[in-house]
Amino acid sequence: MLEIAKSEFKARRERLLSQMDSNSVAIVFAANEVTRSRDTEFTFRQNSDFYYLTGFNEPDAVLLLIKDKQHSTSILFCLDKDPQAEIWHGRRIGSKKAKTDYLFDAAHGLSSINDKLLELVSAKQVLYFAQGESAACDKQVFTLLAELRNKDKKTANAPSTLKDIRTLIHPMRLIKSPNEISIMRLSCEIAANGHKRAMCFAHPGASEFQLAAELHHHYAMHGAPQTAYASIVGAGDNANILHYTNNSDVLNSGDLVLIDSGCEFQGYAADITRTFPINGQFNPWQAALYEVVLNAQLAAFSAIKPGGYLSQANMLAMQVLTQGLLKLGILKGNFEDLMAQQACKQFYMHGIGHWLGLDVHDVGDYKQENQERALAQGMVLTIEPGLYISKDANVPEHYKGIGIRIEDNLVVCATGYENLTHHVPKTIAEIEALMNSANKS
Ligand code: GLY
Ligand code: MN
Ligand code: MN
Repeated sequence: MLEIAKSEFKARRERLLSQMDSNSVAIVFAANEVTRSRDTEFTFRQNSDFYYLTGFNEPDAVLLLIKDKQHSTSILFCLDKDPQAEIWHGRRIGSKKAKTDYLFDAAHGLSSINDKLLELVSAKQVLYFAQGESAACDKQVFTLLAELRNKDKKTANAPSTLKDIRTLIHPMRLIKSPNEISIMRLSCEIAANGHKRAMCFAHPGASEFQLAAELHHHYAMHGAPQTAYASIVGAGDNANILHYTNNSDVLNSGDLVLIDSGCEFQGYAADITRTFPINGQFNPWQAALYEVVLNAQLAAFSAIKPGGYLSQANMLAMQVLTQGLLKLGILKGNFEDLMAQQACKQFYMHGIGHWLGLDVHDVGDYKQENQERALAQGMVLTIEPGLYISKDANVPEHYKGIGIRIEDNLVVCATGYENLTHHVPKTIAEIEALMNSANKS
């Protein structure tokens, strides 16, 4: 099965340790279970930084990375084996198996964490952790520091410097390894085929949540039981609500439907948007607007290469959107003036794209030393221009209530990009051909 080898997780820990100050320690917390209602929990999702460094998928665990003058050590604390709890809540790996299977230098049950942390963190100069990410984790760290300060002054010492561990982990996560790209290629392929399934199923009278169910069925049947975010299925004017997730309306003939959905495979997100006609045929006004968005996306793609910039991609897209809106009579005036005023932004309210990885809006600074960061090989990002003309907009009648976004996932390669989501039909001809070939239920 395609998965990240435990040796790659270990190599990530070693790379992180190599960047830490000497005589330092890092604490990385796993996620906890989150209550959904009364005594039920949401499906568990690991903290992405913790997962990136461990591949360990249980709640409540803690990773400790220690950098002494001479050597570096990685230690896991995980839930203690507990036959009774495991009958009710599921199997636990336990510290013994965690150490050998996940290649830690040592692993201990969580029941021993307080004493062990006092011993291991004592006399370190620098403590790294994700400050402010979780009130519970902040409290645990500050309690530890207070205990170290209050201990016998001759035997213990609290670190005097706190540093943010994310400034070291996130640049690592931003550049994907060949194995991560292979997994993302598959995540994107599963998501892409889910979109094709939804296109084939769509018909007037079906509901938005049934379309979502088609996508989710496909994801699960292909090894990706979770979505990377709540699927957006917006028919008609609902497409103009950028984060619409109610998905409760019925699909009407003559409207478009916008689907923004992606699975999560081996922890990695796909994030695809397609917009298509519910009855299988674009009307002339929908088609005209669609071509503008598609051409804007293709223009933006040309900036995706090492040394390129997301702002360049955005500018290229905005030029095409502005020209198109002028031609259709939705914007009026002079092209240069409209560009200077960013007039198209009233119909394109979001950015051109974002990093993609273990998180759908993945980590990594977009600026370095206050300068925009250039694209580099191994980055994965979305390109997702859109036009959103609400039914209340002051535009020619035929364009009202049309929302269109087209979103693909690109990996930056040595000389350009690979479109990981190319499988989903995107031109009008391709979309209509697929929809009309389907046997509608
Ligand atoms: N699905 C969220 C986004 O496209 O950014
Ligand atoms: Mn999206
Ligand atoms: Mn996106």
